[in-house]
Amino acid sequence: MNKDAVIEALSKVPYPGFNRDIVSFGLVRDVSVENGKASVALTITTTDQRVPGILKAAVDEAVGAVPGISQVETMVAVSQPKAQSPGPAGAGGGASQNKIPGVKHTVAIASGKGGVGKSTFTVNLACALDQILRERKLHNAVGIMDCDLYGPSVPLMIGINGQPHVDGEMIVPLENFGIRVMSMGFLIDPETPVIWRGPMVAKTISQFTQNVAWGDLEIMVIDLPPGTGDAQLSLSQTIALDGAVVVTTPQAAAWNVARRGAMMFEKVNVPILGVAENMSYLDDPSNGNRTYLFGQGGGQKTAKALGTQLLGQVPLFEEIREGGDNGIPVVIGSPRSEAAKVFRSIAENLLATLD
Ligand SMILES: Nc1ncnc2c1ncn2[C@@H]1O[C@H](COP(=O)(O)OP(=O)(O)O)[C@@H](O)[C@H]1O
Ligand SMILES: [Mg+2]
Repeated sequence: MNKDAVIEALSKVPYPGFNRDIVSFGLVRDVSVENGKASVALTITTTDQRVPGILKAAVDEAVGAVPGISQVETMVAVSQPKAQSPGPAGAGGGASQNKIPGVKHTVAIASGKGGVGKSTFTVNLACALDQILRERKLHNAVGIMDCDLYGPSVPLMIGINGQPHVDGEMIVPLENFGIRVMSMGFLIDPETPVIWRGPMVAKTISQFTQNVAWGDLEIMVIDLPPGTGDAQLSLSQTIALDGAVVVTTPQAAAWNVARRGAMMFEKVNVPILGVAENMSYLDDPSNGNRTYLFGQGGGQKTAKALGTQLLGQVPLFEEIREGGDNGIPVVIGSPRSEAAKVFRSIAENLLATLD
């Protein structure tokens, strides 16, 4: 009875700087109650020396307020994030339990809000990276981990429809156009209410890193849910990321949100590798006129505010949307198109940053 009440109280304690609580993040390792004395053990991964103290105080207070609890003992164990790189220049070094076995570089694709084209960007970037790496004689080079639990759209966009094969403890990723893909969309019943999915974030992401037979990959791109901060924190607790790419649109409203979303990464020491602007402009093929439907300068502004580079600007193209809807990314379907060229140039810039 008491133990449930203690867990209930813990589930109201947020992780410092985030909205999500420590229980659903999977940070609570042990809870026991005996003769009015509660013992709580947490394990966290952080380099911020203030966090353990803040968490201990918050847990002491929350659990101390539970009826029937007269004493609280809170232990916070801190494990250092492994192979966290100080910046893009030193990215990717070191062996670590947090590295996905066989995967050389891991890049998260983030955005402050939904609908900016993050998934479209992720899929086309992955295909462009694959083309470039194949030209460099590196095959089976790219994987996509779709961590958007709320709207996993990668399977549709890359034309994969099916259920992954399970081999013992390992899930075998599905593959199309030479890209290996693992997605929540393969596992979750679309009818599962979103509120049930939230607490699954940390567990699922750790499963995606440890129980998926990715094989050897040069680079893994990760489609995150739009920037609440939950998935970012979970990711930093489980995977050693080389860094994140922030996708934004040119609008002032969007770039502000993108900047705030990116600040979440700074809190957990994940470097921002660059900003990509999507829906930058629209060209009218009949007269060559260019219009800036969503304004101008958002990508550059975001990059400047984050002290990083603008990796490139992706125009609005009907072919890009069609590619997503048909499951044939424009980079694959129309490799000579303007759109494909832009994605490849962004991929080149990203690879140069990672190297
Ligand atoms: N550059 C673009 N040109 C045309 N349509 C685009 C472009 N980028 C995204 N879209 C379309 O916008 C919609 C939202 O994109 P999506 O990638 O699902 O966004 P997010 O993952 O950020 O929510 C999709 O229908 C997609 O096809
Ligand atoms: Mg998406």
